[in-house]
Order: sequence, then structure tokens, then C-alpha cells
Amino acid sequence: MRNNDNGATIEEIKDRCNIVDVIGRVVNLKKAGINYKGLCPFHNEKTPSFVVSETKQRYTCFGCNKHGDVISFMQEYYNMDFMQALEKLADEVGLEVKKVSRPGGEKKDELFEINRQAARFFYKALREKPNPGLPYMRERGLDDETLRVFGIGWADGEWDSLRTYLNNLGYSDDKLKLVGLVSESNGKVFDKFRERVIFPIQNTSGKVIGFGGRAMGDAMPKYLNSQETPIFKKKNNLYGLNITRNEINKEDAAILVEGYMDVISLYQAGVRNVSASLGTALTDSQAKILKRYTRNIILSYDADEAGINAALRGMDILKNEGLKVHILKVTDGKDPDEFIKKRGKEAYLELARNAVPFAEFKLDNAKRNHDLSTVEGRIDYLKDAAVILSELSPVEGDMYIKKLAKENDISEGAIRAEMARRSRKPERAARADSQVRIPMTNVEKTLIKVILTDASYLDRDVNYNKLFKTPSSAGILSAMKQVREAGEEIDINKLEDIIDEEDVRSLEEIRRDIKLAGHTEEIFAECIRKIERQELRARESELIATIEMADSVGGAEKMSELMKELSDIQRELNVRGK
Ligand code: UTP
Ligand code: MN
Repeated sequence: MRNNDNGATIEEIKDRCNIVDVIGRVVNLKKAGINYKGLCPFHNEKTPSFVVSETKQRYTCFGCNKHGDVISFMQEYYNMDFMQALEKLADEVGLEVKKVSRPGGEKKDELFEINRQAARFFYKALREKPNPGLPYMRERGLDDETLRVFGIGWADGEWDSLRTYLNNLGYSDDKLKLVGLVSESNGKVFDKFRERVIFPIQNTSGKVIGFGGRAMGDAMPKYLNSQETPIFKKKNNLYGLNITRNEINKEDAAILVEGYMDVISLYQAGVRNVSASLGTALTDSQAKILKRYTRNIILSYDADEAGINAALRGMDILKNEGLKVHILKVTDGKDPDEFIKKRGKEAYLELARNAVPFAEFKLDNAKRNHDLSTVEGRIDYLKDAAVILSELSPVEGDMYIKKLAKENDISEGAIRAEMARRSRKPERAARADSQVRIPMTNVEKTLIKVILTDASYLDRDVNYNKLFKTPSSAGILSAMKQVREAGEEIDINKLEDIIDEEDVRSLEEIRRDIKLAGHTEEIFAECIRKIERQELRARESELIATIEMADSVGGAEKMSELMKELSDIQRELNVRGK
């Protein structure tokens, strides 16, 4: 007898699809013995350590240790949940997943349905009754077909027309509140969207998850968006993607823009591989979603300062997901919408072809921020450039080092030296992975122990904020000050109530492991001396690097100033001794 539960269906689906075919579509697999081998799609590598076993129907990466079956591959690679992965596979082999009601699933279905009804209501309102929205959209150049494709609608100026409509369909105010279509104030429930052109926001399955509403004229806010709801998570969705994803896949490139109207205008003009993050900074999860359709992203943000900054932030997020990023800057009008209306599709495509790789964009931007006519400006520019270059792959980096050296008439060696220096800096590693806390130094630990032993050390004329550099020690310091200022005894239990959990552990270690051997006063003085010496050493190596650069940018005067500071520091270090 056939097993009628869900498990049988999963096995059935797995049986029908061959993992080698599924993975083979996105990874170039070569036969190696009885298995298949390829470059791991989950981490960067040059030699294949990703193995797919046809007999076991499993994959394993010996580089990053990712492993699993065909379903977990789909989940991981396409950023899907289990059911989505299963449904996609089932669909491909012509099966249907046995529907099991997921907890909360029913409730969500109802919320989607409410939104669908609301979208229909708005859609009709734009067309059936006279309203300012339709002429406004026409004036902005949208034709009927585009209005239809994007489901654009109109929310009238009444306080409760949508609410009444949906109530009559049997949906309670509580439900309407839950999807953010109505608000409540002083016991009055009213429509949230009024006097606005409505842009329904759909997920990639075509379900309406939220709305954006454009005000007429100068009413504020310009765009009102649905709040986060059980079915609307801004960070997990991109506007227009339900309509454009096939085109993105076909073109193997996505043009990312900032606004609803940018997506719609480009689409109408025939540039259809386009999408927008939903008026917020791009997120990791949006990058993961895009990666399902292409690895090539063209950022086409507004030409203003805000747009440039958003692009700078966005490209790091995209790079971290392993995507290739180019930047397109419109040369006419403030955004892609204005540009394409003025100049047309071909001109825009020309800009897209000339979009600059992200490193070049960053370098240009760094250049803009410095005054290259001064030696200081040129040194600072080179320092910024070194940071940018050290984030690139060696091959890419090399190319830009040559370019930079040539353009600025400095030696490649000076740039490389600065890059090497940057990459040794501990803060860099910490920033790359915020999970990892920079450990406290022994000197910091000893100083904390000193203060724990005798709180009056806190009142010394010493700039502790400067001495405690790592986040942990700074956190503990501020907790100690807090307790002291409250006029209480500093004891570990009190501190532990107000510091981070990780710092509690450090504090326990200090209590247990650090022993003050000798006079507290001498130990204290020695700590201060050590920290000051470290500071001098750091400044010394900073100066040496800067001098190398000043040399290569031809700043003779600046050089002698720097040399003077360096020799002062070195003399000071000599006096102080080891
Ligand atoms: P812009 O201010 O650049 O608007 O915001 P826009 O797209 O050019 O709008 P039009 O052309 O004047 O109609 C870009 C995006 O930021 C979000 C929206 O998603 C908008 O499309 N935004 C902007 C908001 O969510 N709320 C706002 O008040 C403004
Ligand atoms: Mn605009």
C-alpha cells in the first residue's frame, strides 16, 4: 500500500530528479571517477573541490564543507525555504507536492487574498471613475499596457471606501489592520492610502504583499508604503521582479534602480531586466534573490549624492554575495526614469554598456573626495585607494594598481606597501566579520584588574577612553565609570548586570587569570607606559608609510615635515627604552 503521508511524496520527488542534472545546470560538472566534480558555487575557489555523487544523490564540498541532497542544494543555491525548493523540483518533473497545511499558512492565504482584493479595488478606481491619478500617470508617460502590467491603481480621497468595500467582502478591521490597509486612531479606523496612485508590490509568485502609494503634487510623504506585515518583509523582496525576472535571467544581467517609477519607465521603454529595492538600502537577502537569476548587476541609482552613497553601500552587499557589479550613471536628468524619457532606450543601453566596474567607481569617488592639487590630498587619496584595492582579487587588484600608478605618477611599490600595511590592521578583520570581537590586550586586562582592585584609579588624571581601545575594554570601562559615578562599590556582579554577554566572559577571565604581582602603583604606571609606547610605534609605522608615499607624489616640503615628526617619535622611543 502506498504511504499517504508527506514523506512519501518528498521521496518520490527526489527519486524523479537526478541531482547531477539539477546541479549541472548551474555548475560546470566534470566526470571524475564515479563522481562528478566542479567549482563550488558556495565559496570562491580556483580548483574544484565540489563533488556530486550520482549514486548517493548527494553533494559535498571539501573546501567549505557544504553538503546535502538535491533539496538542500536548491534551498542553499536559490535561497528558498524547504517547501519552495520542493515545489520547484516537483514542478520540473511534473509532480505536485502533497499539500500539507503549514502552521500560519491558512492565515497568510487570507492576508494575500485581502491584498488581492484591495489591488483590484484600486485598479478599477483608476479606470472607472474620474480621478487625478490617471491623468497624472499619463502625463508621466505611461501607456495603458504598462498601467495594466504593473497593476497600477488609485486610492480615492474618502476615509473609508476601501475599508467598507473589504468589510462587505467579510474581512474584519483586525485583518485589514494586520495587512496595513487601514489605520486606527482615537478609536477610528480609516483607509491608510488616500489620494494616491497605487503601486501594488508582488512577490515572485505573483502574490500581492504590499503597496506603495505616490502622492499627488507635493503632499508628504511622496511615497507611502505598507508597513512590515506578516506577509510583507521589505528586506526579502524587490519591486517588479515578479514581472522582470525572466528577462533578467535571459539577459543574464539585472539593472537595479531606486524607484518604482524607474522600474516602470525603463520597462515601458523596452529595458525589461530591471528591478528596485523597496526604497530601503539593499539587503543581503535581496542580493541572494537576484543571484537566482543572474550574477551580473548594474546599479543605476539616482545621480545625486544620496544615490551615489546608496550605490556605494549597495555594491558591497552585492559583492559579498559574489555578484559582479557595474555602476551606470545617468548623464541627463536625475534618475533613470527622467533619462530614458528624455533620451530614449538606445541612449540608456549605451550607458549600460559603458557602466564602470565597481572598483573603478569607488576609486573615482575617492578621488572626488580629495584635493589632488595638495600633497596631503594625494596621500589621503592613495590611502583610500589602497583600502579599495585590497578588497579586490589579486588579479583585479593588480590591474588597478598599474592603472593608479600610471595615472598618478607614483610607484606601484608604494601602493603595494600601503595595501600590505592596511591588510595587517586588526580593525579590518573585525569589520569583515562582525561576529568576531577583537580580543582585549593583556595591558588592557591588567589595567582593568588594577581598577577592580582599587577603584580610586578611575579618578586619576588619565584619559582612559584613549587607553581602552577594543570594544570589550571600552564597554567594561564605561560600566565601571557608571557604577563609580552612582557612588557604589565596583564589584564584578554589578558590572555584569550592565555589560554585554561577551564582556561578562572577558571579565570573568580577568578576575580568574590576571594576577597582579607586585605593587599596584608600579603595575599601573607600567601599563600606561606600555600603551603610550604602542601608540608611538603605531604612529611611527604610519609615518614611515606616509613618507614613502609623499616621496612618490613629489611632496618635498611635506616630506621634511613628516621626517621631523618621525625623528621626534624615534627619539622619544629611544629615551623611553624597550
Ligand atoms: P525618489 O525620491 O528618488 O522618488 O525615491 P522617485 O522614484 O524619483 O519618484 P518620482 O519619480 O518623483 O515619482 C526613490 C524611491 O524611494 C522610495 C520609493 O520606493 C521611491 O520610488 N521612497 C521615496 C519612499 O518609500 N518614500 C518616500 O517618501 C520617497
Ligand atoms: Mn523619479
